[in-house]
Amino acid sequence: MNREEALDSVKANVENNNLVKHMLATEAIMRALARRLGEDGEEWGLTGLLHDIDVELTEGDMKSHSKLGADLAREMGASEATAHAILCHNEAHGIPLETKLDKALFCADPLTGLIIAAALVRPDKKLAGVEAKSVNKRFKEKSFAAGASREQIASCSELGLELDEFIELGLKAMKGITAGLGL
Ligand SMILES: [Fe+2]
Repeated sequence: MNREEALDSVKANVENNNLVKHMLATEAIMRALARRLGEDGEEWGLTGLLHDIDVELTEGDMKSHSKLGADLAREMGASEATAHAILCHNEAHGIPLETKLDKALFCADPLTGLIIAAALVRPDKKLAGVEAKSVNKRFKEKSFAAGASREQIASCSELGLELDEFIELGLKAMKGITAGLGL
């Protein structure tokens, strides 16, 4: 499966455009994390791109969410490592994060929401003007984008990254795909 096939499949299974954008943003951060950690950018990027492919199919059933996604990824020819990372990114299954890829997806996923929210509160609603220090400030405001779990984002420490560095890396990665994100 190449990247285009993966994206086609995401679009075929996900109607909500914001959700597709969330997966594109996660892909971008995953690629940047792979580069930073000397890992496989293709595999890590695909993991981010596919990770929520089943959200609409599972209709909010958290017991199925990410199990189906992992199966779909496998059927598409994704690696077992990708399928595992997708499976355990949903904490409802209680499956421990084992690999670096598992841990990377887990912390990258909520960072996208925090950064998008930081862009949307700006008068121009653009990502270009968002600075890492303002995302850092927003991180500390618990009520801001409350759905973006701070604990989960801060688990970047499991990969040996300081929070500041992770936020900067994620912001830079997402700024690289502003056209795709429409931000
Ligand atoms: Fe997600």
